[in-house]
Amino acid sequence: MSGEIAVSVWRGGKDGRYETYSVPRRESQTVLDVVTFVQRNIDPTLSYRFACRVGVCGSCAMTVNGKPRWTCRTHVSKVAGGGSLEIGPLENLPIIKDLATDMQPFFEKWQQAKGVFAPSKTRHDDIEQIPPSSPERRAVDAEIECINCGVCYAACDTVRWNKDYFGPAALTRAWTLANDTRDAGNAARLQAVSEDGGCHSCHSHQSCQELCPQTLNPTASIAGLKRRTLAAYLKGEIKG
Ligand code: SF4
Ligand code: SF4
Ligand code: FES
Repeated sequence: MSGEIAVSVWRGGKDGRYETYSVPRRESQTVLDVVTFVQRNIDPTLSYRFACRVGVCGSCAMTVNGKPRWTCRTHVSKVAGGGSLEIGPLENLPIIKDLATDMQPFFEKWQQAKGVFAPSKTRHDDIEQIPPSSPERRAVDAEIECINCGVCYAACDTVRWNKDYFGPAALTRAWTLANDTRDAGNAARLQAVSEDGGCHSCHSHQSCQELCPQTLNPTASIAGLKRRTLAAYLKGEIKG
């Protein structure tokens, strides 16, 4: 493959602008390869974030031609069919500089959704095993593969309209823990996700599911939390 592609890249903070660079086309070139070429060969001050380059760490997500994507696993040939490529920072998060966003609000919402394991045992107890075939374990087979990339959070219109909404990733995390038989924090977790900003704010638009690079379905996890919180309320385990 030869030739060049014109790439518009966001530069600066929230009041920044797109600047266009010419980048050589390569076989099997990813969007992250393009960003890296600009930073290494054209402007070393370009800020962006990545680590693994193989779809594991979740740090490389950016807005590519208007949609949030993991850039290390997104081939230019798949997204730049019309010959143009526009790369910006993730939406719904503060821009630090260029393509780097501040992920703090994303992870603070994990805390608010009680997306943290609450142990029911001490270090002196035997290690508890979870049979892979148990219904609780099977219920979250897919969701435990979340790589925290923030693509769903950037894609979610409810996050855009409601700054208090925890968002699909935090609620997916809460759902995995709600099904973890070793966890002792479920009453507090179900209480947290039933309140303002929790699962009942989701409008089931499913853009999170359409764009999740791990093909997870946060909408289904959130629906699970809706059912679980209602059952807990009817049993008097959480307040309305
Ligand atoms: S289904 Fe819910 S979490 Fe997913 S994008 Fe829509 S509103 Fe957001
Ligand atoms: S649910 Fe999918 S899109 Fe959202 S953070 Fe996890 S891996 Fe990324
Ligand atoms: S660089 Fe790790 S997922 Fe893309």
